Parts: sequence; structure tokens; C-alpha cells
Amino acid sequence: MSRPMLEVQDLQVAYGHIQAVKGISLDLQPGEITTLVGANGAGKSTTLMALSGLVKKAAGQVLFEGEDIGRWSPHRIVERGMVQVAEGRATLTTLTVRENLELGGYTRRDGKAEREADLDRVFALFPRLKERLDGLAGNLSGGEQQMLAIGRALMARPRLLLLDEPSMGLAPIIVQDIFRTLREINAQGLTIFLVEQNVRQALKIAHRAYVLETGRIVVSGRGRDLLDDPKVQEAYLGG
Ligand SMILES: Nc1ncnc2c1ncn2[C@@H]1O[C@H](COP(=O)(O)OP(=O)(O)O)[C@@H](O)[C@H]1O
Ligand SMILES: [Mg+2]
Repeated sequence: MSRPMLEVQDLQVAYGHIQAVKGISLDLQPGEITTLVGANGAGKSTTLMALSGLVKKAAGQVLFEGEDIGRWSPHRIVERGMVQVAEGRATLTTLTVRENLELGGYTRRDGKAEREADLDRVFALFPRLKERLDGLAGNLSGGEQQMLAIGRALMARPRLLLLDEPSMGLAPIIVQDIFRTLREINAQGLTIFLVEQNVRQALKIAHRAYVLETGRIVVSGRGRDLLDDPKVQEAYLGG
């Protein structure tokens, strides 16, 4: 196995005296989709925010390609190549689709031609965004807003893409569409860390998976294997 892209050791996060994340360790392999699944309140978002530098870690180590990024600012982490997709509804609704996508590329120092090429790549993945380019993001459907949020993150040229429940609030058919696109983005070489409450769909597309329960990882393995695991089935897949 190659060196992990991201290595997390004994991560702990607390809100006052609420221990939200109680010492978790996980690895993300380059080129893979890894998922962290669990019920509402398990600590999934807290884990992601801690990795992105958005909440303070009580303990633990985070290595990105071998480099300790545990104390880095969110901005520096993005520049380093680890980009979190904003929650679907956090797309800036009073800006146009184009303006949102341009904001995604704001940390980049390369030229207009590269950004145009990346825009074209986003349009190839999400043709709807091209059709709605000069419309306000606020007028998009929920699924389109999620696509825009992903597209915006891609404009930052991530090497590791983090997503917090992209399926939230979307109809099953739209979820399938989004997940198919994630698989396509991954096939193009991008490493993905997907946090999900939609356990079945997440396990279907993930190479590796971790199950989080009240701040602790209780099961891990290949996504497909966890789909067949009786304990996982009973707890998360309706038996
Ligand atoms: N800002 C906060 N202040 C206090 N407690 C919080 C805060 N955010 C989350 N929590 C608590 O931390 C735990 C984990 O929450 P969260 O990471 O949002 O879980 P998930 O994303 O898996 O639903 C929950 O018990 C939640 O109530
Ligand atoms: Mg959450």
C-alpha cells in the first residue's frame, strides 16, 4: 500500500465538556474514496471541521502527505490542496452561478486560461451549471446547489476533496446522480473523503469505510464488505 494521503491519529474534539470526537484514527489512501458514516450526532461534521482547521482539536495528529497540518489555518490547508465542499445551502445565493465558481478559484495564483479550463471541466461534470451560469444561485434547485458547491470546491484544484453529507435533503434520484459524479471525479484521480448519513449509498461507492458512533470508530473495512456486514446491516441498513 502507498503512503496514505491523510493520516489521522487519536483525534479528539470537545465543545466545552461535550466530547464530540473521542480519539479517532483513520487513513485516506490516494486515489480512493473513503467514507465516514454514522447517525446524526455521531461526530462526523466535527471530524471534518477539525481536519479543515475550522474547530480546535483537543488532541491528535493530522498528517497530509506526511506533513503535520494540525495547527494550520483553514486557508493554508485549502492552499495545500485539501478542500471541503460547503454545505449545499451555503452556496452564496445572492451571487450568480459564475460568481460562485469564480470564488472557488480565489486562492489560486495561476492564470485566466487555467481557470477557464477548470470551468470547462466543471461544466462537463455538471452541464446544468453551464445552462444556469448567469442565474442566481438562490434560484437553483437543491440538487443543483449541491452540484454548484462541488463545482466551486473543484475550482480550488483540490487533491483531496472533503464532503459533508452531500445527499442531505435531496431526492433519491438526485442523490444517485451526485454520487455517480463523485465516482467520476474520483476516476479522474481525485481522492475523496465523504461523510454521510446515507450509509447504503456511501458504502456502495467507497473503497474504504469507517463507521462512527458517538465519537468513536466502531467498524472499518472495505465499503463493499461493510455493506454485507450483519452488524452494519442491522444498525444502518434496516436489517
Ligand atoms: N457547536 C457545538 N456546540 C456544542 N455541541 C456541539 C456543537 N456542534 C456539535 N455539537 C455536538 O457534538 C456532537 C457531534 O455533532 P456533529 O459533529 O454535528 O455530528 P454529525 O455531523 O455526525 O451529525 C453532537 O452531540 C452535537 O450535539
Ligand atoms: Mg453533520
